[in-house]
Amino acid sequence: MVGNWKLNPATAATAKELFVGVRNGVKGVRQDVVVVAAPPFPFIGELSKLSPSGRVLLGAQDVFYENGGPHTGEVAPTMLLSLGVTHTIIGHSERRAAGEVDEVVAKKTVAALKAKLTPIVCIGERKRDAHGDFYMTVAKQLRASLKGVEKKEASKLVIAYEPVWAISKGDGNGKVATPQDVEEMRLFITKELSRLYGRPIAARIPVLYGGSVNPRNVEQLWSQGDVDGFLVGGASLRAADFVTIVKAVI
Ligand code: PGA
Repeated sequence: MVGNWKLNPATAATAKELFVGVRNGVKGVRQDVVVVAAPPFPFIGELSKLSPSGRVLLGAQDVFYENGGPHTGEVAPTMLLSLGVTHTIIGHSERRAAGEVDEVVAKKTVAALKAKLTPIVCIGERKRDAHGDFYMTVAKQLRASLKGVEKKEASKLVIAYEPVWAISKGDGNGKVATPQDVEEMRLFITKELSRLYGRPIAARIPVLYGGSVNPRNVEQLWSQGDVDGFLVGGASLRAADFVTIVKAVI
């Protein structure tokens, strides 16, 4: 269960408040439910001091593929690791819209795995067509985004299916995919992963859904969508809403 805070909140103080709200809210939640908060980079150091139990893990929203050198503005996998970060989102559609291409997503994914960070690799079609061509778009994007990931590393991947048309404007109330859309795509993605890595490994790769998940639709998506968890944007900015979403899967 991943909260993608995107470019929010505005200050370190409010980031702390949000993180503490989530941490307190999920206290009793079963240990095998992995809860990750992905704040903006500048807040990670401060927040890493707030979860001594590690109940809420820290994620980054992006990572670079080198661990040092002349790369102004980038953040290295080893830097994140040194702050206790365990996960990193890679290839989010908002980054892809800003010019990030599959080759770069793949390099970042390989580098994250090498550093022992769990990559949450985002894929998803911009729009749907009546003929189902978007399935091929997703398959192509998946293969290109995982180029160079070896079979022995593949079981450490997490895939997030986020159809771009379902991502909210920031409040978590966009046009959510139907549970059936999600279920069908989940099966398709796992089939594609088994082509790449074989069935036993594909079966171990969690597939998340993201796009306007909120407290009102999460139960249906969970019971009928056949995914392993959710990548939550807008609704993760309200601790109570995110906690309700986390609790829907137990
Ligand atoms: P949303 O964002 O929940 O606000 O639609 C999801 C995401 O982009 O990760």
